[in-house]
Amino acid sequence: MNANATATVPVVAIDGPGGSGKGTVSQLLAARLAWHYLDSGALYRAVGLAAQEKGVRFDDAAALAHLARVADIRFEPQASGQPPRVWLDGRDVSDVLRTEETGCLASRVAQFPAVREALLDKQRDFRRQPGLVADGRDMGTTVFPEAILKVFLTASPEVRAERRYKQLKEKGLDVILSRLLGEIRERDARDAARQASPLRPAADAEILDTSSLSIAQAVELIFQRLQQRL
Ligand code: C5P
Repeated sequence: MNANATATVPVVAIDGPGGSGKGTVSQLLAARLAWHYLDSGALYRAVGLAAQEKGVRFDDAAALAHLARVADIRFEPQASGQPPRVWLDGRDVSDVLRTEETGCLASRVAQFPAVREALLDKQRDFRRQPGLVADGRDMGTTVFPEAILKVFLTASPEVRAERRYKQLKEKGLDVILSRLLGEIRERDARDAARQASPLRPAADAEILDTSSLSIAQAVELIFQRLQQRL
Protein backbone atom coordinates (compact mmCIF):
# COMPACT_ATOMS: atom_id res chain seq x y z
CA MET A 1 0.00 0.00 0.00
CA ASN A 2 1.36 3.48 -0.71
CA ALA A 3 1.92 6.09 2.01
CA ASN A 4 -1.20 8.09 1.10
CA ALA A 5 -3.42 5.04 1.34
CA THR A 6 -2.02 3.98 4.72
CA ALA A 7 -2.18 7.50 6.17
CA THR A 8 -5.95 7.12 6.56
CA VAL A 9 -5.70 3.85 8.46
CA PRO A 10 -6.20 4.47 12.20
CA VAL A 11 -3.56 3.15 14.59
CA VAL A 12 -3.80 2.59 18.33
CA ALA A 13 -0.31 2.51 19.87
CA ILE A 14 0.03 0.48 23.05
CA ASP A 15 3.44 0.73 24.65
CA GLY A 16 4.87 -0.28 27.98
CA PRO A 17 7.25 -2.65 29.74
CA GLY A 18 6.99 -6.44 29.66
CA GLY A 19 4.28 -7.85 31.92
CA SER A 20 2.24 -4.63 31.87
CA GLY A 21 -0.47 -6.63 30.11
CA LYS A 22 0.00 -4.84 26.79
CA GLY A 23 0.25 -8.03 24.70
CA THR A 24 -3.01 -9.54 25.93
CA VAL A 25 -4.79 -6.19 26.08
CA SER A 26 -3.70 -5.31 22.53
CA GLN A 27 -4.75 -8.68 21.11
CA LEU A 28 -8.18 -8.52 22.74
CA LEU A 29 -8.68 -4.93 21.66
CA ALA A 30 -7.71 -5.81 18.08
CA ALA A 31 -10.12 -8.77 18.13
CA ARG A 32 -12.95 -6.61 19.48
CA LEU A 33 -12.39 -3.98 16.79
CA ALA A 34 -11.65 -6.58 14.08
CA TRP A 35 -8.44 -4.64 13.39
CA HIS A 36 -4.97 -5.95 12.60
CA TYR A 37 -2.49 -6.58 15.39
CA LEU A 38 1.26 -5.97 15.43
CA ASP A 39 3.41 -7.66 18.08
CA SER A 40 6.57 -5.63 17.46
CA GLY A 41 8.39 -7.35 20.34
CA ALA A 42 8.14 -10.63 18.42
CA LEU A 43 10.18 -9.06 15.59
CA TYR A 44 12.98 -8.10 18.00
CA ARG A 45 12.74 -11.50 19.66
CA ALA A 46 13.02 -13.25 16.28
CA VAL A 47 16.11 -11.21 15.39
CA GLY A 48 17.69 -11.99 18.78
CA LEU A 49 16.97 -15.69 18.32
CA ALA A 50 18.29 -15.72 14.74
CA ALA A 51 21.48 -13.97 15.87
CA GLN A 52 22.08 -16.52 18.59
CA GLU A 53 21.40 -19.46 16.30
CA LYS A 54 23.61 -18.13 13.52
CA GLY A 55 26.40 -17.16 15.91
CA VAL A 56 26.24 -13.44 15.03
CA ARG A 57 28.02 -11.38 17.66
CA PHE A 58 25.76 -9.27 19.84
CA ASP A 59 28.06 -6.25 19.55
CA ASP A 60 28.15 -6.29 15.73
CA ALA A 61 25.42 -3.76 14.92
CA ALA A 62 25.89 -3.98 11.13
CA ALA A 63 25.61 -7.79 11.08
CA LEU A 64 22.58 -7.69 13.38
CA ALA A 65 20.91 -5.07 11.19
CA HIS A 66 21.59 -7.19 8.11
CA LEU A 67 20.00 -10.15 9.86
CA ALA A 68 16.97 -7.99 10.77
CA ARG A 69 16.61 -7.04 7.10
CA VAL A 70 16.90 -10.52 5.61
CA ALA A 71 15.17 -12.62 8.28
CA ASP A 72 11.91 -14.02 6.98
CA ILE A 73 9.53 -13.36 9.89
CA ARG A 74 5.89 -14.23 9.37
CA PHE A 75 2.87 -14.02 11.63
CA GLU A 76 0.09 -16.55 11.37
CA PRO A 77 -3.09 -15.08 12.91
CA GLN A 78 -4.99 -17.39 15.26
CA ALA A 79 -8.62 -17.40 16.44
CA SER A 80 -9.79 -14.11 17.96
CA GLY A 81 -7.71 -12.90 20.89
CA GLN A 82 -5.09 -15.69 20.59
CA PRO A 83 -1.47 -14.70 19.96
CA PRO A 84 -0.37 -15.20 16.35
CA ARG A 85 2.11 -18.03 15.69
CA VAL A 86 5.46 -16.71 14.53
CA TRP A 87 7.59 -18.30 11.81
CA LEU A 88 11.27 -17.52 11.40
CA ASP A 89 12.91 -18.61 8.15
CA GLY A 90 10.24 -21.27 7.61
CA ARG A 91 10.22 -22.64 11.19
CA ASP A 92 7.52 -22.18 13.84
CA VAL A 93 9.43 -20.51 16.70
CA SER A 94 6.40 -19.29 18.68
CA ASP A 95 7.24 -21.17 21.88
CA VAL A 96 10.95 -20.44 22.15
CA LEU A 97 10.21 -16.81 21.27
CA ARG A 98 8.19 -16.31 24.46
CA THR A 99 10.89 -17.39 26.93
CA GLU A 100 12.53 -14.75 29.13
CA GLU A 101 15.92 -15.76 27.67
CA THR A 102 14.74 -14.76 24.19
CA GLY A 103 13.33 -11.54 25.70
CA CYS A 104 16.83 -10.72 26.92
CA LEU A 105 18.33 -11.45 23.47
CA ALA A 106 15.68 -9.14 21.97
CA SER A 107 16.53 -6.33 24.32
CA ARG A 108 20.23 -6.68 23.47
CA VAL A 109 19.70 -6.39 19.70
CA ALA A 110 17.04 -3.68 20.16
CA GLN A 111 19.54 -1.18 21.50
CA PHE A 112 21.15 -0.65 18.08
CA PRO A 113 19.62 2.13 15.92
CA ALA A 114 20.54 0.19 12.74
CA VAL A 115 18.51 -2.81 13.89
CA ARG A 116 15.55 -0.60 14.79
CA GLU A 117 15.78 1.13 11.41
CA ALA A 118 15.88 -2.25 9.63
CA LEU A 119 12.62 -3.25 11.31
CA LEU A 120 10.73 0.00 10.63
CA ASP A 121 9.20 -0.94 7.28
CA LYS A 122 8.33 -4.43 8.49
CA GLN A 123 6.32 -2.79 11.28
CA ARG A 124 4.68 -0.11 9.13
CA ASP A 125 3.54 -2.79 6.65
CA PHE A 126 1.03 -3.90 9.28
CA ARG A 127 -0.90 -0.66 8.89
CA ARG A 128 -3.83 -1.85 6.81
CA GLN A 129 -7.57 -1.20 6.68
CA PRO A 130 -9.67 -1.15 8.76
CA GLY A 131 -7.10 -0.32 11.48
CA LEU A 132 -4.12 -1.47 13.52
CA VAL A 133 -3.43 -2.08 17.19
CA ALA A 134 0.36 -1.87 17.54
CA ASP A 135 2.04 -3.23 20.66
CA GLY A 136 5.61 -2.43 21.69
CA ARG A 137 7.94 0.08 23.31
CA ASP A 138 8.12 2.88 20.72
CA MET A 139 4.89 2.54 18.75
CA GLY A 140 3.66 5.99 19.84
CA THR A 141 7.03 7.74 19.89
CA THR A 142 8.73 6.48 16.71
CA VAL A 143 6.94 3.93 14.55
CA PHE A 144 3.43 5.45 14.48
CA PRO A 145 3.81 8.99 15.92
CA GLU A 146 0.52 9.94 14.24
CA ALA A 147 -1.45 7.20 16.06
CA ILE A 148 -5.02 8.25 16.82
CA LEU A 149 -4.67 7.00 20.40
CA LYS A 150 -1.49 6.30 22.39
CA VAL A 151 -1.61 4.35 25.61
CA PHE A 152 1.30 3.59 27.90
CA LEU A 153 0.53 0.61 30.14
CA THR A 154 2.49 0.16 33.34
CA ALA A 155 2.38 -2.01 36.44
CA SER A 156 4.77 -2.49 39.35
CA PRO A 157 7.73 -4.82 38.63
CA GLU A 158 6.40 -7.28 41.24
CA VAL A 159 2.99 -7.48 39.58
CA ARG A 160 4.62 -7.83 36.16
CA ALA A 161 6.93 -10.62 37.34
CA GLU A 162 3.97 -12.50 38.80
CA ARG A 163 2.00 -12.18 35.55
CA ARG A 164 4.94 -13.42 33.49
CA TYR A 165 5.44 -16.26 35.98
CA LYS A 166 1.83 -17.41 35.55
CA GLN A 167 2.00 -17.07 31.75
CA LEU A 168 5.19 -19.10 31.49
CA LYS A 169 4.03 -21.74 34.00
CA GLU A 170 0.83 -22.20 32.02
CA LYS A 171 3.01 -22.94 29.01
CA GLY A 172 4.71 -25.65 31.08
CA LEU A 173 8.00 -23.76 31.34
CA ASP A 174 10.16 -24.13 34.42
CA VAL A 175 10.60 -20.66 35.96
CA ILE A 176 11.63 -19.15 39.30
CA LEU A 177 9.76 -16.02 40.37
CA SER A 178 12.70 -14.22 42.00
CA ARG A 179 14.88 -14.83 38.95
CA LEU A 180 12.14 -13.56 36.66
CA LEU A 181 11.82 -10.37 38.71
CA GLY A 182 15.58 -9.82 38.40
CA GLU A 183 15.47 -10.40 34.62
CA ILE A 184 12.50 -8.06 34.20
CA ARG A 185 14.27 -5.30 36.17
CA GLU A 186 17.44 -5.79 34.10
CA ARG A 187 15.53 -5.67 30.81
CA ASP A 188 13.55 -2.56 31.90
CA ALA A 189 16.76 -0.79 32.86
CA ARG A 190 18.39 -1.59 29.49
CA ASP A 191 15.26 -0.61 27.53
CA ALA A 192 14.88 2.67 29.41
CA ALA A 193 18.56 3.63 29.33
CA ARG A 194 19.31 3.03 25.65
CA GLN A 195 19.71 6.04 23.37
CA ALA A 196 17.69 4.70 20.44
CA SER A 197 13.94 4.89 21.11
CA PRO A 198 14.17 4.33 24.87
CA LEU A 199 11.17 2.95 26.70
CA ARG A 200 9.19 6.05 27.66
CA PRO A 201 5.65 7.28 27.14
CA ALA A 202 4.98 9.59 24.19
CA ALA A 203 4.22 13.14 25.35
CA ASP A 204 0.62 12.69 24.21
CA ALA A 205 0.16 9.14 25.61
CA GLU A 206 -2.44 8.25 28.19
CA ILE A 207 -0.77 6.42 31.07
CA LEU A 208 -2.68 3.49 32.47
CA ASP A 209 -1.45 1.58 35.54
CA THR A 210 -2.80 -1.95 35.28
CA SER A 211 -1.50 -3.18 38.68
CA SER A 212 -5.02 -3.35 40.08
CA LEU A 213 -6.99 -3.65 36.84
CA SER A 214 -8.18 -6.84 35.19
CA ILE A 215 -7.35 -7.37 31.53
CA ALA A 216 -11.04 -6.92 30.67
CA GLN A 217 -11.16 -3.59 32.51
CA ALA A 218 -8.06 -2.32 30.72
CA VAL A 219 -9.48 -3.33 27.32
CA GLU A 220 -12.78 -1.64 28.12
CA LEU A 221 -11.08 1.60 29.20
CA ILE A 222 -9.00 1.80 26.03
CA PHE A 223 -12.00 0.87 23.86
CA GLN A 224 -14.01 3.73 25.41
CA ARG A 225 -11.17 6.21 24.88
CA LEU A 226 -10.92 5.14 21.26
CA GLN A 227 -14.64 5.58 20.65
CA GLN A 228 -14.24 9.23 21.68
CA ARG A 229 -11.63 9.73 18.96
CA LEU A 230 -13.00 7.83 16.00
O1 C5P B 1 7.40 -6.83 24.16
P1 C5P B 1 8.44 -7.90 24.28
O2 C5P B 1 8.70 -8.34 25.69
O3 C5P B 1 8.16 -9.07 23.39
O4 C5P B 1 9.78 -7.24 23.73
C1 C5P B 1 11.03 -7.88 23.84
C2 C5P B 1 12.13 -6.83 23.80
O5 C5P B 1 12.19 -6.26 22.48
C3 C5P B 1 11.96 -5.64 24.73
O6 C5P B 1 12.51 -5.85 26.01
C4 C5P B 1 12.67 -4.51 23.98
O7 C5P B 1 14.04 -4.51 24.25
C5 C5P B 1 12.51 -4.87 22.53
N1 C5P B 1 11.46 -4.09 21.87
C6 C5P B 1 11.78 -2.83 21.45
N2 C5P B 1 10.87 -2.10 20.76
C7 C5P B 1 9.65 -2.58 20.51
C8 C5P B 1 9.28 -3.88 20.97
C9 C5P B 1 10.22 -4.61 21.67
O8 C5P B 1 12.89 -2.36 21.67
N3 C5P B 1 8.77 -1.86 19.83
